[in-house]
Amino acid sequence: MLYFITSNDGKYREAKRIGEMYGVKIERVDIHYPEHQETSLRRVARLSITALKDLAPKPFFLEDSGLFIPSLNGFPGVYSSYVYKTIGNEGILKLMRDVTDRRAYFKSIVAFFDGRVHLFEGKVSGRISFQIKGNKGFGFDPIFEYRGRTFAEMGDEKNQISHRRKAMEKFLKWYINLR
Ligand code: IMP
Repeated sequence: MLYFITSNDGKYREAKRIGEMYGVKIERVDIHYPEHQETSLRRVARLSITALKDLAPKPFFLEDSGLFIPSLNGFPGVYSSYVYKTIGNEGILKLMRDVTDRRAYFKSIVAFFDGRVHLFEGKVSGRISFQIKGNKGFGFDPIFEYRGRTFAEMGDEKNQISHRRKAMEKFLKWYINLR
């Protein structure tokens, strides 16, 4: 059993489901911690897990993720959570209105602490759609297209290919081998 420190329902649902695929039960713990505004997700994850090491039930992990759009110089990137809450999917579509290069990727960093910090990374490439499509998933899922469908049109299929799946898979394989 592992504790996942998160206040994000969408992230928890997916991590729990991915855990089931590897026979690891994942429980959610919602401890608020300051999200450092840093220049890389790895740095955010490292600082957050270090801040939580004496507060969280063990064994625990957290995950930091973001959407990166190369034609917007990587925006929203480490600011994804704030940007989603402020301008949302409509705001991103507006910023992208006249942009032809629609490539985008999601990145996920899973952080685990056992006396030292361990980081596991996953990435998935796709493109920003022209419209909001689908009602499954969370966050930027309705505007992130992967092979012609948005993540929000996929449901559980997203868990086979997502950035979170890739990072969690690396983490869980490593974790299972330790036990
Ligand atoms: P943070 O990791 O809590 O900083 O939040 C990252 C933000 O990126 C989330 O609040 C979402 O808006 C967005 N995000 C991360 N992963 C996903 C995903 O799988 N689908 C859609 N949006 C995501």
